[in-house]
Amino acid sequence: MSERETWATRAGFILAAVGSAVGLGNIWQFPFKTAQFGGASFLILYLIAALGIGLPAILAEFVIGRKTNLNTISAFEKLGYKEWRVVGALGLFTGFWILSYYSVVGGWVLRYIGGSLTGAYFAAPAEYFGQVSAGVEALGLHAVFMVLVVGIVAAGIEDGIEKATKLMVPSIIVILGILAVFAFTLPGASEGYAYFLSPDFNALAENFGDIVPFAVGQAFFSLSLGMGAMITYASYIDGDQSLFGDGITIVFLNSFVGILAGLVVLPLLFAQGIDPNTSGAGAVFISVAGAFGDIPGGQIIGLVFFAVVLIAALSSAISLLEVVVSWAIDNYDVSRPQMAVGLGSFIFLLGVPSALDSAWLGWFDTLAYKLLLPLSVLGILVFAAWVYGAPAVDELLKGSGLGEGVGLTWLWIARTLVIVAVVATLALGLETLFV
Ligand code: PHE
Ligand code: NA
Repeated sequence: MSERETWATRAGFILAAVGSAVGLGNIWQFPFKTAQFGGASFLILYLIAALGIGLPAILAEFVIGRKTNLNTISAFEKLGYKEWRVVGALGLFTGFWILSYYSVVGGWVLRYIGGSLTGAYFAAPAEYFGQVSAGVEALGLHAVFMVLVVGIVAAGIEDGIEKATKLMVPSIIVILGILAVFAFTLPGASEGYAYFLSPDFNALAENFGDIVPFAVGQAFFSLSLGMGAMITYASYIDGDQSLFGDGITIVFLNSFVGILAGLVVLPLLFAQGIDPNTSGAGAVFISVAGAFGDIPGGQIIGLVFFAVVLIAALSSAISLLEVVVSWAIDNYDVSRPQMAVGLGSFIFLLGVPSALDSAWLGWFDTLAYKLLLPLSVLGILVFAAWVYGAPAVDELLKGSGLGEGVGLTWLWIARTLVIVAVVATLALGLETLFV
């Protein structure tokens, strides 16, 4: 078997991981939820969740990946805990599951890039979305999106994912920055900023029980945790570098892009007097899309906006396909391109119901969000912090120049606070899943 691939540079790994993290979650979930859940006060809470809970969790995945240089299932075996492969398998399955409908949404984005050019959705955005979000065309575009994902993953770690994300991630940041400047010039900008960012501690206090689990769940989803992605990406690291430093950079950039997205979309909505009190698909594909119909140069702005959304979605999707491809080529004598095509086709098929009927898409998403993801994150954390323990601290500190105290702080936060937060999120999610 040929030698296992590695990232060419440390920046390559970081950008690939940021590419995975920055996705639809940042653009269509984060700005609206922030606004709805109390603006700046939610933002503070989210940043606490991202740093206090997301960061320790992402470090746990990095440790497992870098230590073993193996895919998310075999890694556990190599560490000497064969039974724990089930946790890796759950992560892999979760990634598989999520990609199947994430790709359907990617197809919608492709559709809206074309729709911006022709102005197809400008007159009646809600009706347009209803027509294009499910059906044979949605299925076709789901296929096109998967072909793009397969193409990048088939080209390999260095020549595919690293090269692509080196281009994609800076583009996302620069283009969103330019759009944010444009949004600043719109008449509703200051109202938009106020809605997005002014603190509302009452909203926070009144819905604390809903908001805290959401902030934690969002931190996990947004950092691509519990899908095997970060274990897999870290497994291609060659040599020592500060995982701590990488983790902080990734958490920071992921949050930054979410805030930047808010600075784009909320002024846009307020400029058109559109009620921003929606989130999810409707927010981006109906409200924001509708705003493009009414602003000067809306065709171009819409095109650029949906192009950024596409890049963000693609750079996330490739990390999920890589999880399974990595597992296959580590264990079987098959080529990367073959596996990328084979597994990509399988994921495409799994997404067929979601492409044909949005109710299925919603069901896939709910199950992933409320059950699969938190369960998988929990398994990884219990493993890394309680079962593997001390060697995990050594691996974390390796090459970081940090003292033992930092490692032990990580260990105890992961053992206690983070696990409590995940269990609470899981419990609340399950409660709402079955009632
Ligand atoms: N982190 C992604 C986001 O915020 C979630 C994701 C990652 C989805 C990888 C799919 C694949 O959108
Ligand atoms: Na994200």
